Amino acid sequence: MNKKTQVTSANFMLHGGDYNPDQWLDYPEILADDIRLMKVANTNTFSIGIFAWSALEPTEGHYQFEWLDQIFENITSIGGRVILATPSGARPAWMSEKYPEVLRVDAYRRKQLHGGRHNHCFSSAIYREKTQQMNRLLVERYGNHPSLLMWHISNEYGGECHCDHCQEAFREWLRVKYLDNLKALNHAWWGPFWSHTISDWSQIESPSPIGESMVHGLNLDWRRFVTDQTIGFYENEIVPLRELTPDIPITTNFMADTFDLIPFQSLDYSKFSKHLDVISWDAYPAWHNDWESTANLAMKVGFINDLYRSLKQQPFLLMESTPSGVNWHPVNKAKRPGMHLLSAMQMVAHGSDSILYFQWRKSRGSSEKFHGAVVDHDNNSNNRVFQDVARVGDTLENLSEVVGTNRQADVAILYDWESNWALNDAQGFGMETKQYPQTLQEHYRYFWEQDIPVDVITKEEKFDSYRLLIVPMLYLMSEETIERLKSYVANGGHLVMSYLSGIVNEHDLTYLGGWHQSLQDIFGLEPKETDTYYPTDENVVIFQGHAYTVKDYATVISAKGAKVEAIYQKDFYAETAAVTSHSYQEGKAYYIGARIEASFQRDFYSQLVSDLQLEPVWKVKHEEGVSVQAREDLTNYYMFVMNFTEQKQSIEFESTVYDMKSNEELNRQQELTPYEVLIVRRPK
Ligand code: GLA
Ligand code: ZN
Repeated sequence: MNKKTQVTSANFMLHGGDYNPDQWLDYPEILADDIRLMKVANTNTFSIGIFAWSALEPTEGHYQFEWLDQIFENITSIGGRVILATPSGARPAWMSEKYPEVLRVDAYRRKQLHGGRHNHCFSSAIYREKTQQMNRLLVERYGNHPSLLMWHISNEYGGECHCDHCQEAFREWLRVKYLDNLKALNHAWWGPFWSHTISDWSQIESPSPIGESMVHGLNLDWRRFVTDQTIGFYENEIVPLRELTPDIPITTNFMADTFDLIPFQSLDYSKFSKHLDVISWDAYPAWHNDWESTANLAMKVGFINDLYRSLKQQPFLLMESTPSGVNWHPVNKAKRPGMHLLSAMQMVAHGSDSILYFQWRKSRGSSEKFHGAVVDHDNNSNNRVFQDVARVGDTLENLSEVVGTNRQADVAILYDWESNWALNDAQGFGMETKQYPQTLQEHYRYFWEQDIPVDVITKEEKFDSYRLLIVPMLYLMSEETIERLKSYVANGGHLVMSYLSGIVNEHDLTYLGGWHQSLQDIFGLEPKETDTYYPTDENVVIFQGHAYTVKDYATVISAKGAKVEAIYQKDFYAETAAVTSHSYQEGKAYYIGARIEASFQRDFYSQLVSDLQLEPVWKVKHEEGVSVQAREDLTNYYMFVMNFTEQKQSIEFESTVYDMKSNEELNRQQELTPYEVLIVRRPK
């Protein structure tokens, strides 16, 4: 993990972002100002062409690349790099008019009109052909341009289409998956339930609110299909790029849920990531909101970054972020002084090799004219936001050494998209309280507070390199995953699992005959019942003499060899096991049967961390609300000490550190102003 992986050919931190000169072609003075201001803002990299299809091909077959040639030259003239986008995220009107099949059909089977964006059919042969044709022209023209840094494929792939082409493609996908065997499909989908047995492939329809789909196997397969179909569309886009520019890295910008900062829900990024060279994503946390502390939000931002970094175990790129507010939150608050630098450095601290923005310049019209940008309608560098951006650029210039570095983590938390889908679909338990990804954040919280590095991994990753593997609420588990977890523990791993784990298999069919025998072997117990609480219900568990509150879920456990670590206080399962541990071969397995308040996680994990000697490697003393994150190479830790509070904070380094800019040794005791970030190098 100490080796560097430079994800692009740039050996500096990328700074810049989405640039839409195609909106300003009638304003040559603005285009000239852009180039002048880019230097003033200390920016160096621009994503162009994302929504430029109508500027590139104003009418079918008539192309117009001269303006883009000029933009390439402009950016090159200031030593900048280009991330060239393929424009498939939005289409020109002529295309929707002439080939209506490119338009999406929604789940209600309503054909969408031309408008908006990100709304094409992924199966349409015509749209696939048109995008590939356009991409070929782009690569032929710009593939050898010295400023071309990488490819940005489409924009924020997402959503689904229910048109006839997609229905056919879904049926075909199912035939391949079930080896043309309808009986196998009916079994996997539990067909006889409500008489849903299918006698011909043609009867299969994608899930729709009009014919409310209660067939969970169908719903799950549909979600998988949507991921595969999206990847298929993407793969079709990149054919000419791979052919003509095999050395130019390819990415597409991923997303996350904005407020909860949980993984994007509708595509399985663990699959998609295998098709990308570099992970990039668009982050828009609601800083300064009125429902949580800044530190709580920062913890969640840490979590999602640790997932996206772990998808490829290499640095990622922050493809979009806002220099101030956005335009689509219910309230679009500006970043307070200090927050822009702090929030940008947090991304770098967790593994980003870029700070890129949406958007370089505010558009003059349409829906994003009030979205934060580096350049406002005043066209001036003399304002707070622009100055904040320039300061980030200046800071990044001192961080070239950090480019390509990663970090070593001994702790992993496992997230699974498929399990998330299946659990959300499950009717049962608490309809509002499942909160699977949010529960992962609650387990992550302790490690974030303690500055202990964590990878958030998916089930395809290797488990062996981690000393501690935390698997909360893994509702869907294939036999394969179960066996891999078993050998992880057998070989000396420490595994933590929780309530609602191992309930269904990969078809969303429940396991029969009790909890899977391998899980019983690992944990030395069997969960007997999952009790679900009303919001006003509570229980209490006693762990090492302390009482902790239980909400939402409590598992009634029959211990079969496991050591009881905590017991319930109330209800018909009072005095029985709530938390257990069990040695299994070389390793140890812990089962947390209930949803217990945060202070339990703190005490439970701090015990485990000290047993396993997983002390924070970065060693900075601080109070709550300060986060230390680091990246490392063979000789140094690059540490980011971040004050996510509205107060001054005193911190103390426990070893010698050097300022990243001056390279001078720093006093070990430091005071951070609100939202301040200190970036230091600590030799190993
Ligand atoms: C997304 C899109 C951008 C822009 C921003 C606004 O991330 O990719 O084009 O619309 O949102 O926040
Ligand atoms: Zn379609």
